[in-house]
Amino acid sequence: MDLAGVHGTSLEPLPLQMGDRAMPHDPATPQDSLAVNSWNEWDPLEEMIVGSADNASFEPTEPGSRPAIRNRPETPFPTGPKSQEAVDLANEELAGLADLLRSQGVTVRRPGPHDFSAPVRTPDFEVENQYCAVCPRDVMITMGNEIIEATMSRRARYFEYQPYRKLVYEYWNSDPRVGWTTAPKPSMADGMYREEFWDWPLEKRHERMHSFEFCVHQDEVVFDAADISRLGRDILVQESMTTNRAGVHWLKRHLEPRGFRVHAVHFPLDFFPSHIDCTFVPVRPGLILTNPDRPLREGEEAMFLRNDWELVDVPEPVLGNHEMPQYCQSSKWLSMNVLSISPTKVVVEEQEKPLQDLMAKLDFEVFTVPFRNVFEYGGSLHCATWDVRRRGTREDYFP
Ligand code: ARG
Repeated sequence: MDLAGVHGTSLEPLPLQMGDRAMPHDPATPQDSLAVNSWNEWDPLEEMIVGSADNASFEPTEPGSRPAIRNRPETPFPTGPKSQEAVDLANEELAGLADLLRSQGVTVRRPGPHDFSAPVRTPDFEVENQYCAVCPRDVMITMGNEIIEATMSRRARYFEYQPYRKLVYEYWNSDPRVGWTTAPKPSMADGMYREEFWDWPLEKRHERMHSFEFCVHQDEVVFDAADISRLGRDILVQESMTTNRAGVHWLKRHLEPRGFRVHAVHFPLDFFPSHIDCTFVPVRPGLILTNPDRPLREGEEAMFLRNDWELVDVPEPVLGNHEMPQYCQSSKWLSMNVLSISPTKVVVEEQEKPLQDLMAKLDFEVFTVPFRNVFEYGGSLHCATWDVRRRGTREDYFP
């Protein structure tokens, strides 16, 4: 990876207070104007990374993932690089989203090149190829003035932070108050995974639905960034196939001394949970879009209700699960993976008319872009982006 040129900015001695507790409350620090500043999912967007399908490969079968062709589970899932056509179609839609954001005054940046067809070999595992940089949301997260790189949970995604490193260096060099943390990398050795998980019959899943044990054991710290949702001082983290309790615990220990409150959340009817942004989607202070098939665990809605937040079920998606693109490993609920440009402006996939109508009724200005060809890569509008800067500060919405 070529990092030449990113070290060019001044390297003066750093002030001592880096990152921590004191910073966000220091009135002399206008952290609002830092290159990295984003405290929630909806504040007015200023700078965004939009993913890229360049050099994407099919996700390999590995202990943390059993990809299958939709409606044809007996046919082997393809391996190796995606077709140029599939890459071009997704890139065209990603470029369309980038154009829309630019037209709204947002600075758009893109990941750097990476060869996802290359195998990975570490002392603990080997995998035949990597995946893609379509979904920066899964890997990277902005926590106020700090960038965090997630541990990741799958072997093929172990090095997925690399396409973003050049950008991270640029932001990190731009101001000594910008923080950068990489979470501890798990081994991803065979013993980290519970492989039987994939073969559990449905009754066993029902039986076990309240234990929140999935394909990853609890010994090592594991989380994907997309299991996190930011609501100012309060941070939600979904326990899932891609985030375990040790991962939630690491986030708590890292973030709580910095003034955040971390809440583990659970959706017991989702038997294959991964990434919170098709399940529980905050769109402005006081309003969360919810998935009618995946209610929040009883009791966990208390903090929202106590503070008069509204939880609104989204309508049925336009495409059913069986109509989703054949290589897409995500569910029909990609429909609700909307992207906020501000608390009054939201981007919804072009064909999701029922959800567009709901958002309009809820007083949003609704923007649409076609995004169906990105679905094959497992994500929609929120997944395919990483917000680096939104205008605003850390608020306490749940006093
Ligand atoms: N597991 C989710 C579903 O199928 C998809 C989540 C996609 N989100 C993401 N950030 N890649 O409903």
